[in-house]
Amino acid sequence: MTNHTRALTLVLGGTGKTGRRVVQRLTAQDEPVRIGSRSGGLPFDWEDPATWAPALGGVKAAYVSYYPDLTVPGAAEAIGSFAEMAVNSGARRLVMLSGRGEDEAVACEKALAESGADWTVLRCSWFAQNFSEGYLLEPVVSGQVVLPVGAVGEPFVDADDIADVAAATLTQAGHTGQVYELTGPRLLTFADAVAQIAATTGRPIGYTAVPAAGYAEGLAAQGVPAEVIELLTYLFTTVLDGRNAHRGDGVQQVLGRPPRDFADFARDAAATGIWNHK
Ligand SMILES: NC(=O)c1ccc[n+]([C@@H]2O[C@H](COP(=O)([O-])OP(=O)(O)OC[C@H]3O[C@@H](n4cnc5c(N)ncnc54)[C@H](OP(=O)(O)O)[C@@H]3O)[C@@H](O)[C@H]2O)c1
Repeated sequence: MTNHTRALTLVLGGTGKTGRRVVQRLTAQDEPVRIGSRSGGLPFDWEDPATWAPALGGVKAAYVSYYPDLTVPGAAEAIGSFAEMAVNSGARRLVMLSGRGEDEAVACEKALAESGADWTVLRCSWFAQNFSEGYLLEPVVSGQVVLPVGAVGEPFVDADDIADVAAATLTQAGHTGQVYELTGPRLLTFADAVAQIAATTGRPIGYTAVPAAGYAEGLAAQGVPAEVIELLTYLFTTVLDGRNAHRGDGVQQVLGRPPRDFADFARDAAATGIWNHK
């Protein structure tokens, strides 16, 4: 399919796990890009709506990645208001990063659609990069991952695949009104994922499943803020109760190729040295 943009694209979370990769792809295609984040040249802050209109100036399309999480109170309202502002300022094409099996994420998707935008939703499974660029990096490096998740399977998706799909849907025709389920090619338990990283790095890394209450107490003892504990416990228990233990075919649908395997992610991440002892 042919590119039809060459107009400015705003990439929210453009320095984060998926946004950074979306920026790389658009830039490689000579698509003009503006990073939307608090540290961007033209700052964008979800907490400060006064920053939204300036960030949208001259923009025709946007990658909408909400922070901190689509399940926090106020997310749907913020996304709805932002999308409405975007449409009114001429940024009609909005591609939203969403999550699977979350009523709150569905409410965010609905708010996006009600804005009248030419919307596309990327409903993603758990990112593989949570182990290399997110909150699971430190436990992996320490050699012990402790989570309130047992033997449930999750088809971890590679952020590179999400970015490939996002770049395609932002620049090519035919994706308006589509919800794509983006997952990896196979189900792994968190213990499987950690074992894969251990095998790839050649380092012993343990995995222990603990009850949710004990997990929350452990985080509190480390001084983690209550709202973060609530969010993590919710994500690791409610969303990982088995409802998402199936694969989606969005990567194949959009890109015409299978998604990357977790083993490929582990090999590439290990090669960067990210999991070496500090
Ligand atoms: N992680 C997963 O497995 C997963 C799975 C499915 C869906 N999701 C969804 O993906 C989204 C992003 O999650 P993530 O954990 O991967 O984060 P991330 O994209 O790695 O988040 C960091 C990005 O957000 C920006 N940011 C932080 N605070 C901000 C604020 N107040 N206003 C604007 N930008 C801000 C950061 O830049 P600055 O610091 O410069 O602001 C950075 O660009 C969430 O909506 C989540 O629900 C995540």
